[in-house]
Amino acid sequence: MEIKTLSIDWTPERLLILDQTQLPHHSEWIEMKDLETFITAIKKLSIRGAPLIGVASSLFLANLVQQWQGKRSVADLIEAAQKMRMARPTAVNLMVCIDRILRVISLHQKSDEKIELVLKQQVTNEAINIFQEDVQLCEHIAINGAKFFADGDSIVTHCNTGALATAGIGTALGVIKHVAKVEGKKIHVYVDETRPLLQGARLTAWELEKLEIPYTLVSDSMAAFLMKQGKIQKAIVGCDRIALNGDFANKIGTYSLAVNCNFHQIPFYVAGPYTTVDFECVSGAHIPIEERHSEEVHGVNLKDNRVLWAPKDAKVYNPSFDVTPAELVTAWILDRKVFDKNNISQLKDLR
Ligand code: MRU
Repeated sequence: MEIKTLSIDWTPERLLILDQTQLPHHSEWIEMKDLETFITAIKKLSIRGAPLIGVASSLFLANLVQQWQGKRSVADLIEAAQKMRMARPTAVNLMVCIDRILRVISLHQKSDEKIELVLKQQVTNEAINIFQEDVQLCEHIAINGAKFFADGDSIVTHCNTGALATAGIGTALGVIKHVAKVEGKKIHVYVDETRPLLQGARLTAWELEKLEIPYTLVSDSMAAFLMKQGKIQKAIVGCDRIALNGDFANKIGTYSLAVNCNFHQIPFYVAGPYTTVDFECVSGAHIPIEERHSEEVHGVNLKDNRVLWAPKDAKVYNPSFDVTPAELVTAWILDRKVFDKNNISQLKDLR
């Protein structure tokens, strides 16, 4: 069995990932040889996007079971899963997917036992299920979201939510793809470059180019002016964790985009799978926000050198995500259902 997407290439024996830090100008595939390599790849954002880090972690755990069967104990596997679970704190999909694998482990073996063949098969099956489910979730999100977009719309999006960030066609970008490619509507996409790590400029622009969907790249701070000029009709973004009241975390800059949309009376949609809903989290105030290294704001690491534009000791605050309050959201486009302000209180029923 082989799984190959835009960003992962998996067999039960090994996982290769496309190093997203090198895109769009270099396509480098890296083999995830051991646990440390994989965790570093998640932390560095070589592999990223809430759904994808959950799916890839499940597949990588299947690789570890394969390598460790008969040699290492179940406790080692659980410890590895727990370490992976903590690699990034905001995207709840990571925890949701790893917990599914941990449940399979606890159903089949005790922690002091050596890993047996049956566990290898069960963990591998569950990882493949998680992958296949995510592909389907993306399709359902796209179908549910497409009705909100009309021929002639110009749509702004933030960060990268496409095939690079999921197992399938993506969430917000999957909706955009469906509207343009399946329904054939003529749309235009404004891509926020998404400071500081430029997932919009580097990854979304790259994906839209491959898809031949017309787009214009803008810096994050331009959105309000474009809205004022009447250049934007709708906004759609992805999410890393949705709280039960509809507040949601997404890439830093999403909140300001939502505020700008609200001020200009532009519909603001968020798209995500049910695996991004945190059923234990009552509101956005409880979502843990990842803080990242100051060097991401001081300058940029290019393939062979580093460019520093700020004084090297400049004090930096670098929250990687922000929380958009539910009141700014027009609709939550999920795989099973679309919610609006009238029924978002039913989000908990998706559990
Ligand atoms: O730090 P990143 O690049 O992993 O952040 C990604 C986002 O914020 C995406 O919008 C979100 O994970 C949804 S991806 C379908």
